[in-house]
Amino acid sequence: MQTKIIKINPINPEKPKIKIAANIIKSGGVVAFPTETVYGLGANALNPEAIKKIFEAKGRPLDNPLIVHINDKKDVYRLAKQIPKSAEKLMDKFWPGPLTLILNKSKIVPEIVTAGLDSVAIRLPSNKIALELIKESNAPIVAPSANLSGKPSPTLAKYVIQDLLGKINVIIDGGETEIGLESTVLDLTTNPPTLLRPGKVSLEELRIVLKKVEVYLITKRKKVKKIIAKSPGMKYQHYSPDARIILVEGKPKQVKSRIQELVNKYKKERKVVGVMTMNKDDNYKTDTTKFLGSDFSIIAKNLFKTFRDFDKEKVDLIIAEGVDDKGLGLAIMNRLRKASYKIIHA
Ligand code: TXA
Ligand code: MG
Repeated sequence: MQTKIIKINPINPEKPKIKIAANIIKSGGVVAFPTETVYGLGANALNPEAIKKIFEAKGRPLDNPLIVHINDKKDVYRLAKQIPKSAEKLMDKFWPGPLTLILNKSKIVPEIVTAGLDSVAIRLPSNKIALELIKESNAPIVAPSANLSGKPSPTLAKYVIQDLLGKINVIIDGGETEIGLESTVLDLTTNPPTLLRPGKVSLEELRIVLKKVEVYLITKRKKVKKIIAKSPGMKYQHYSPDARIILVEGKPKQVKSRIQELVNKYKKERKVVGVMTMNKDDNYKTDTTKFLGSDFSIIAKNLFKTFRDFDKEKVDLIIAEGVDDKGLGLAIMNRLRKASYKIIHA
């Protein structure tokens, strides 16, 4: 398949270009487009045949449901039913933006979207290209992250090209995504609501709006297997680079000395060791050190890119510094923990 790459201005999307992409969606094709979190792989949410192509292109298991993206809050009332008051409060506060709500689905949502579940995931993104594309397509758009299953979510069009060129109709290049981590996923069909995936909209922010939020997250590697498939996506092995990641959590000083100890140990075994740091002044004696940034928003933005960079280098092992579990830190740690094969508490 010939993939058309269309560069679109993210601040002021050119209408004729949006129309080309929207026509593809309308005719049952598949379009990769930027959102404020990561790039998504979109198809008409009401067209099961089109949606099948997304699963095929990504190599995604059919029992992992998709998020429906809308450009108008009103659409929630078409796609979902028994919408609680809390949903309205959350939509008012966080939409458009990186929050996905799980609600009871209405009849119009095809089974392939929800993988047979009674609930549907919905979000109203803030990225202008995404909003214009949904509007011009005249339909809600389902979109998982636009990576091959098992690869990190793409934050730049070039990663979508690496993974999906020749497999989809259009790739919109709208520059680097703002946030770099996927949206917060909150299940409102449970009482209290359950946080299924942490993201830019933090647990602390959710707790200001909701009295109680249950947290349903992997905190330790060994817990992964124990988790029942509450959010079907959770049961799948999350992306991890070819090199194995060891995550070191704890107080900064202890973490640093533990990391250097680990580096020394593995260097003795003649391994090529990379370190991922969140502190500019860190100076590990090792083969390669990658500095992600010192504040959470920069770290979030660089995390998946750094995973892909390490994949290109012949590193056997990556030792990563942990960050504080607060705010966006919880989302960063969630992705790091899932990618790690070992977590060490220094
Ligand atoms: O930021 C994002 O959310 C990006 C952009 C493109 O919008 N999309 C994204 O989609 O990350 P995806 O498919 O990679 O992740 C969606 C997650 C999966 O873990 C899936 O299992 C879960 O949401 N999910 C979808 N529908 C669900 C449902 N009805 N109940 C529980 N979990 C659901
Ligand atoms: Mg994904």
